[in-house]
Formats: sequence, C-alpha cells, structure tokens
Amino acid sequence: MTFGRTLRPLWGLADDVVFLNHGSFGACPREVLKAQDVIRARMEAQPDLFFGNEISPGEGPTTLRAAASEIAHFVGAQGEDIAFVENATAGIQAVLRSLSFAPGDQILLTDHTYNAMRLMVEARCAETGATPLTVTFALPATSADIAARIEAALNPRVKLAIIDHITSPSALVLPLPRIIGALRKNGTRVLIDGAHGIGQVPLDLTVLAPDWYVTNLHKWLFAPKGCAILYASKEAAALTQPNVVSHFIGLGFPQAFDYTGTRDNTAWLAAPAALAFFKKLGEDALRAYQARLIDLCTDMLAPLGITPVAERGMCAAMRTFLLPQRRAAKTEDAATLDRALWDQERIQARPLVHGDKLMMRVSTQAYVDEDDLKRLADALARLGWPGWAR
Ligand SMILES: Cc1ncc(COP(=O)(O)O)c(C=O)c1O
Repeated sequence: MTFGRTLRPLWGLADDVVFLNHGSFGACPREVLKAQDVIRARMEAQPDLFFGNEISPGEGPTTLRAAASEIAHFVGAQGEDIAFVENATAGIQAVLRSLSFAPGDQILLTDHTYNAMRLMVEARCAETGATPLTVTFALPATSADIAARIEAALNPRVKLAIIDHITSPSALVLPLPRIIGALRKNGTRVLIDGAHGIGQVPLDLTVLAPDWYVTNLHKWLFAPKGCAILYASKEAAALTQPNVVSHFIGLGFPQAFDYTGTRDNTAWLAAPAALAFFKKLGEDALRAYQARLIDLCTDMLAPLGITPVAERGMCAAMRTFLLPQRRAAKTEDAATLDRALWDQERIQARPLVHGDKLMMRVSTQAYVDEDDLKRLADALARLGWPGWAR
C-alpha cells in the first residue's frame, strides 16, 4: 500500500487543505460513506422491516448485533460485551449515571482528562455529593511518573477512576496495565476513555480487563460520525444502563442500548465496512507509516525549538508539541494560531493551551505525507505564533 497524497481521493477532504487533525473528528472514507448510504436506503425503503429486523432486539439475531460481534472480535471481546453508542461522551455519561455515589466518595480523573468528561464528573458529583479527585502530571511526562502519581492518589474513597487510553491535549498513550492493576488492588472501578483507542493502537480488552472501555469508531477506525462502542465486563454489564430508557430497558446490557427511540443507526451498521477499510490499509503497515511521519514531524519542528511533550514511545499516530514562549500562554493563543494557520496557509492542525503552555497536536494518517508536514513547519517558521512572534 502506498500511503500519502495518492490515497487522499479515498476521502472527501478538500484538495487544497493540509489536514493534520484526524484526532478531533476523524475523517470517513468515501467507500464507508457509500456503504452507509446503502444501509440508509434500506431503512427508507421499508422502515418497519428495517427497525423490526435489523435494529430492535427480537427473536432472531439482528444486523446490529452482528455488527457488534464483528467489532467485538476485533478488540478481543464478545458481541454481548459491546453496546453501540453515539460517541465516547454518551458512553461515559451512561457509566457515570449507572453508578451510585455518596458524599465522601471520590471519582478520579487527571488534569489531561478531556474537558467534557471533567464537566460530566463535576455534574455527577454535584448531584451525589461525591468529589472529583484530579491527579496532575506536568509535561514533559514519563509513563512511570504518571502511573506513580495515580497510585499515590489512591485511597479507599476512590470509587471510580476515568483513565484515558490516549490523552486528548497531550496525545500520550498511558500505561494502562500498570494503572488498571493498581486501581483493582484499591477496589476502584475502572472506566477507560479510549476515545482515540480503536484503530490507533492494538486493543485486546480481554487482556486489558477494565470494567468499561469506551472508544470512538469514528476517529481512528474510519467509521461514519456518531459511531462508538461501550464495552462492559460481565460484572459491570449488570450495572450498566443506557442514557435513555425505552422499550428494551428490561433486557439489560447491551440490548437496552440497541433501540432507544427512532434514530439514524446507520453509522453503527456501517462499522463493519469501516473495519474492512481499515484492514485493507494493513494495520501494521499503517501504524509503521504513522510512526515514521511522527518522527519526521518531530525532526522538522526541532529547528524551531518546538519539542515533543514526551518521549517517542509514549505516542502513537498523534503527537503533541510544546511551542516555546516568551510569556505565559493566554487562552486565546490557541484560537489565534489556529486561525492564522487556516486563513493564511489552509493548514488544520490542533493548537491548544494547556495550563500556561501553548501546544500543538499533530495527527498523522494514511492520507498525510511528508509534504504536509513540511508545509506546517514552513508556515510556523514564517508566521511564528502568539508569544513568539517572528
Ligand atoms: C480523550 C477524549 N475523550 C472523549 C472525547 C469525546 O469524543 P466524542 O466527541 O466523540 O464524544 C474526545 C474527543 O476528542 C477525547 O479526545
């Protein structure tokens, strides 16, 4: 497989755009969208048959359950362990609402947790009297330091921990086996926010054995938007309720999630087409290509004083870089840089402010090539960035 610009026509991305932000919303290939269109046409041709036979739990196996089984096998699980949800946000919300908390209980997260999840934890704590327990880790970080900080924060009051597989602002792959082991020893339930997991890194949920694992298929597995899965262990499944109560609530996990009122489920049914596309690219070759691009990007940005937030082994297809500053970063710096890169150069990366640091997350993908990275490095050299004007 020849990766890079020659593959770009497989996606609908605009020709003149340097797209280095696959991580935020993904990008769905044309052939997967076509497969979704076929499914949608079936839905519109005979809605009763479609919802009756393909979606709603009933006598026989549904198309939806078959899709769940196929994705489950890809991540070392069984179909009955997997519910489809719209996105990681919905999956994490379902877990948080399925558990009861009392005053004094703690929910552990980190200062690299995705902002929406932090807000969700704060809201659940406000409802129940529990408190968030935020573990902080400074950048540059090491795996051992992150794990040790989480371990040091553990105490019997920590009822649930939400741990990223790959952090959003810093793009760090966290050392899950060690962290999950420590949480288990502490009697803490473990919810992995794997929003960036499936497709970006190899995944075997039987080996990893969290209580819950949520992952977006619409990011690194190339599914249409609105496609994610919530995995629950056998024990956790018994507790896990969907956000919306509907006809099949009595069936429990996962069937209670399959139909929660009329909606367009075609992104879920197109998940096997996305998996087939991903496999066609060649899983190992794709990851090797992404790793090579990340290294190239690191080398190209180094002469500008732009450095990665962690060592090579801690990232996969995305890497976050620290932009040198003559002053503390302001919240608006990220938007200013984002706008400059877009308006003047048609480059979409992901500038962000974390604490007082201005950073930039760069996503590689099968359709990205060396020229795209060079365009980014040249643009930064020419334009500078807030707090470091050229
Ligand atoms: C770590 C992490 N968790 C959760 C999400 C939310 O994903 P979604 O918007 O698909 O729910 C994101 C989005 O980028 C993320 O990076």
